[in-house]
Amino acid sequence: MNIIYWSHPGGPAWGKYKWRKNFGLASFNNNNNNNNNIPGPRGFPLIGSMSLMAGLAHRKIAAMAQSCRAKRLMSLSLGETRVIVTCNPEVAKEILNSSVFADRPVKESAYSLMFNRAIGFAPYGVYWRTLRKIAATHLFCPKQIKSSEAQRSQIAKQMITMFQLGGRDVIRVRDALKLASLNNMMCSVFGRKYSLDSSNAETEELGKLVDEGYELLGMLNWSDHLPWLAEFDPQKIRLRCSRLVPKVNRFVSRIINEHRAQSGDVHPDFVYVLLSLQGSERLSDSDMIAVLWEMIFRGTDTVAVLIEWILARMVLHPQVQSKVQTELDRVVGGSRAVTESDVSEMTYLPAVIKEVLRLHPPGPLLSWARLAITDTTVDGYHVPAGTAAIVNMWAITRDPDVWANPLEFKPERFVNGAAPLDFSVLGSDLRLAPFGSGRRTCPGKNLGLTTVTFWVASLLHEFHFGPIYNNDPVDLSEVLRLSCEMVNPLTVRARPRHALHQTPIPNNCN
Ligand code: HEM
Repeated sequence: MNIIYWSHPGGPAWGKYKWRKNFGLASFNNNNNNNNNIPGPRGFPLIGSMSLMAGLAHRKIAAMAQSCRAKRLMSLSLGETRVIVTCNPEVAKEILNSSVFADRPVKESAYSLMFNRAIGFAPYGVYWRTLRKIAATHLFCPKQIKSSEAQRSQIAKQMITMFQLGGRDVIRVRDALKLASLNNMMCSVFGRKYSLDSSNAETEELGKLVDEGYELLGMLNWSDHLPWLAEFDPQKIRLRCSRLVPKVNRFVSRIINEHRAQSGDVHPDFVYVLLSLQGSERLSDSDMIAVLWEMIFRGTDTVAVLIEWILARMVLHPQVQSKVQTELDRVVGGSRAVTESDVSEMTYLPAVIKEVLRLHPPGPLLSWARLAITDTTVDGYHVPAGTAAIVNMWAITRDPDVWANPLEFKPERFVNGAAPLDFSVLGSDLRLAPFGSGRRTCPGKNLGLTTVTFWVASLLHEFHFGPIYNNDPVDLSEVLRLSCEMVNPLTVRARPRHALHQTPIPNNCN
């Protein structure tokens, strides 16, 4: 039977479904697309196309869709999981904006790491809606983002000082960016404020917990797709999760308890928000831990990864870098530090950021797949409930049918090119939607984009970033973990552009 299942387009999981459904009925093929098979690779018996998901999955899937002539919609099997993949913006819109694909496929590591009780993996329903509402009201609304501006300014200033102290040394920007992002989230979520230049046990411990969780969640877990393997935990993912979770519980519980014990005038961080919820919104301690942990976790890596790609492109394209700096000099001048309102007056810098998001979306497959809650139709094909859907945003943003000269790094396309100046990357136009779209779109997109744009503006205002050796090309090789990062962390020389600014910045955290 396994051979029969495997012989079906899309491989064994699709074969099994169709065979069971149609056993004894007429052939699947008639003139109605609804009963037609979605084209796709068979892969191998039993495991299907698991190998496509290892390594640079976005590239392998794009190449496979091209060779199967299935860019609009391709079917494949990951073990027993039926999957559809699209590399087309219209079909991506149909999937992401459909109320049917509002769930996430089961992922054991996400459940073990408590993310099923946080926004990212909570099943679609009342609990998930409540969490999104709480986060939208208290963490991601424009007023809240504005109120944390001083904190972002202070961290930008510390980063600048760090780079200045680096002098003529080679700087590995990733270390500074990850620490800056972690400190930023620790301040917004836990109300903890640490300086970038002094090490402390709490940040170090949390950094290690985030790194470990990040690695576990980014791994392709074979047991998710081959349930008969689950008992053996062959990649030791369950074991590692079970060791990590008590540490996370201890860490976050301690912070929650300290907040409970505090009284008087306190910094209104997200822990206080969760503690103050009443009635149906009130969360149990374990749910609070999951939600807080997720915010730290998601807010840290994405921002650092994206800024590293932006700086890499700046080193690679010095003429683009100087154009941004000319704009910064015009809007800000050379005698004071950048503010977030300066950034809103700029047009070229946002274009640069959009262009980097186009060529290097941090989630090339939009981080996490979606799951069909009920039977539905996609691009005219019947898609049964329980099918996972992947949008290959990386393939869309590099498709010559969608973008002119897609491999060229050309921010001008967002200033005076085919894309309008106000082209939104926030999910309304699926030609470039690095934050996803629809019900499960990234809730942190405005906060993430504000942080990235402001920190990049601050760094480029202060420094010229160049290669370590002249004509030393930047290595743009990628590695896909939870986000798509540079394989070799970017190293640069940062040459100061102005004298040190001493703008006093209000201290917003306790
Ligand atoms: C450059 C920054 C970021 C990028 C590129 C990014 C990208 C994404 C993507 C592609 C998704 C999946 C969307 C979908 O399925 O349609 C997502 C989901 C999510 N992101 Fe972000 N993100 C960023 C920043 C942040 C930040 C700063 C936070 C929070 C502090 C955050 C929290 C989340 C959460 C909680 C989800 C799950 C949403 C749900 O399932 O309902 N993200 N993000």
